[in-house]
Amino acid sequence: MTRRPMVGGNWKMHLDAAAATALATDVAGGIGADSLVDVAVFPPTPYLHLVAEIARGAALQVGGQDASGETQGAYTGQTAASMLFDVGCSWALVGHSERRHGLGEDDALASRKVRAALDAGLRVLLCVGETLEEREAGRTFPTVCGQFEHSLHGIQTADLERIDIAYEPVWAIGTGRTAGPSEAQEVHAALRETVALLYDARSAERIRILYGGSVKPANAQALMACEDVDGALVGGASLESEPFLDIVRAAFPPEHS
Ligand code: PGA
Repeated sequence: MTRRPMVGGNWKMHLDAAAATALATDVAGGIGADSLVDVAVFPPTPYLHLVAEIARGAALQVGGQDASGETQGAYTGQTAASMLFDVGCSWALVGHSERRHGLGEDDALASRKVRAALDAGLRVLLCVGETLEEREAGRTFPTVCGQFEHSLHGIQTADLERIDIAYEPVWAIGTGRTAGPSEAQEVHAALRETVALLYDARSAERIRILYGGSVKPANAQALMACEDVDGALVGGASLESEPFLDIVRAAFPPEHS
């Protein structure tokens, strides 16, 4: 099975309406209609609607940076997955480290968000990753594989069809430090093995595992050339169209097309 590469742009809490409009327009135009790579952007919530309007009719996909684990009700400040779907999103990021470590979200909450997103008709990009302390203590594999297992508590094999993974070592996010291709590859292989153990070989073969953490045009191709690295989740380098489009092109270099 050949996995179709995916590149996501996580805009985090950056840009304003004018800049989001310009960036989305440039990215949508830059990837063209016949992209060999799935390209998604994850704008700040207030700009989702306008970015989704720009993406409509283009090959660009749009997702929320988070989705509530609740369906509706008195949850001030939260955004229901159905609302994301309603404004044109097809994705939700779940479990980003800036929510796990910055806001104290745990695997149990991530699993409720995954369920809510799937029930609303969204695809999920589930983020996992170890801290520097966990890596130095030799706990990288149990940490990321454990996050995967517990964040998908109750998720059946059929549901897994709409889930992909982003491996994002916390020490590499926004730091300019990146995992080398062999460091990334061994974690991606362990994650794929975990999918096979917890689900089945077919799911393990299908699921995309993106790498994230200081991906730039200069390192993207080497990372994505690894057997088990199926794309990239990009933060800083997704805030301008040219570097982001360079990373998209690196996901499918011309000699492989
Ligand atoms: P970065 O962010 O590319 O700026 O390191 C990646 C992410 O947090 O998804």
